[in-house]
Amino acid sequence: TIPVDIQSLADYEPYAKARMTPQAWAYFSGGAADEITLRDNHDAFARYRFKGRVLQPVQQGNTRLQLFDMLLEYPILLAPVAFHRLAHSEGELATVTAAAAMGAAMVVSTQASVGIEHIAARAVAPLLFQLYWQPHREANLALVKAAEAAGCKALLVTVDAPVNGPRHREQRAGFALPSDIEAVNLRGLPTAPVWHSKPGQSPVFGSNLLQAAPTWEDMRWLKSMTRLPVVLKGVMNPEDARQALDSGMDGLVVSNHGGRTLDGLPASIDALAAVAAVVNKQIPLLLDGGIRRGSDVVKALALGADAVMIGRPYIHGLAAAGAVGVAHVLNMLRAELEVAMVLNGCHCLADIDASLLWQAGRTQ
Ligand code: FNR
Repeated sequence: TIPVDIQSLADYEPYAKARMTPQAWAYFSGGAADEITLRDNHDAFARYRFKGRVLQPVQQGNTRLQLFDMLLEYPILLAPVAFHRLAHSEGELATVTAAAAMGAAMVVSTQASVGIEHIAARAVAPLLFQLYWQPHREANLALVKAAEAAGCKALLVTVDAPVNGPRHREQRAGFALPSDIEAVNLRGLPTAPVWHSKPGQSPVFGSNLLQAAPTWEDMRWLKSMTRLPVVLKGVMNPEDARQALDSGMDGLVVSNHGGRTLDGLPASIDALAAVAAVVNKQIPLLLDGGIRRGSDVVKALALGADAVMIGRPYIHGLAAAGAVGVAHVLNMLRAELEVAMVLNGCHCLADIDASLLWQAGRTQ
């Protein structure tokens, strides 16, 4: 049974922390540098205010949507998070079991700690695959073919992390991947050479670190190699959104990687409207970063997202209670979403638009 004091997503945090090593906790919870962006992801949602709406016909509503060729019951996906086995011994298998029970789409990370084919064998709801660009084109192709063979519905190419942000919390905790946990889907593929730079040379530009940094040309090549929709994850700049449209990309995720890459980016919810204005509903737009409440989902949809993804919250459920915890997290968020819709007079997702919010979050 689930403890009575777990009534919202945040309530899982202390339980998760207690069940993880301090190193794993630092890995999952930390952000880059001073964690300005990480904090902002949470704080920013609280700055938007609803108008609320009364006496609307809200009976027989639903939260259904079509996203690429997926029919989803609700607009909440599980974001790609690496190494679920750090949180729970069953790792991604527990997560996909919860996703199956809850009908939630799950994005499998390139750095998953369980093979994509094993995850797919347990999947009922749609899977998507997150691609970290590999330095060798044949490695990218092998990953794409594995994702296609596993029945994945889309590729999310993470474009905001050609280098990692300096994640001091996990560095100070001395985090290292335990020897029995591995990015198994990369096994046997040519990977990036180990980082090296010569003393006195510039530490990043003068190193081999950026060899694998992808470009727009790589994205166009990728699109030519697969029939799956290619979705760029980690776009915060409206100019990049424009370039993505010009390059024929099939979707975008407004995301700052949960505050783990460039510290000083705004909260993803604060960047959303400007990106949505460029996208202008031509391709699906997702958002992640800081979603902790169903009302946050409504705010994201009001500002132009078609769907959202959650990262850390489901990891907390996973660490605390395995598949049951992940399912419970999804269920709570889904119920909160419906409550927030009803209290805003919305009976389907199409009813959600910017008119739900006070201008710029202000009530005057
Ligand atoms: C991530 N994220 C991530 N993104 C990605 O594209 N590939 C990955 O392997 C990972 N791994 C990963 C590990 C951990 C520990 C975290 C916290 C995040 C980013 C993730 O997909 C998502 O953008 C954020 O987690 C969303 O923010 P919230 O919901 O955690 O606030």
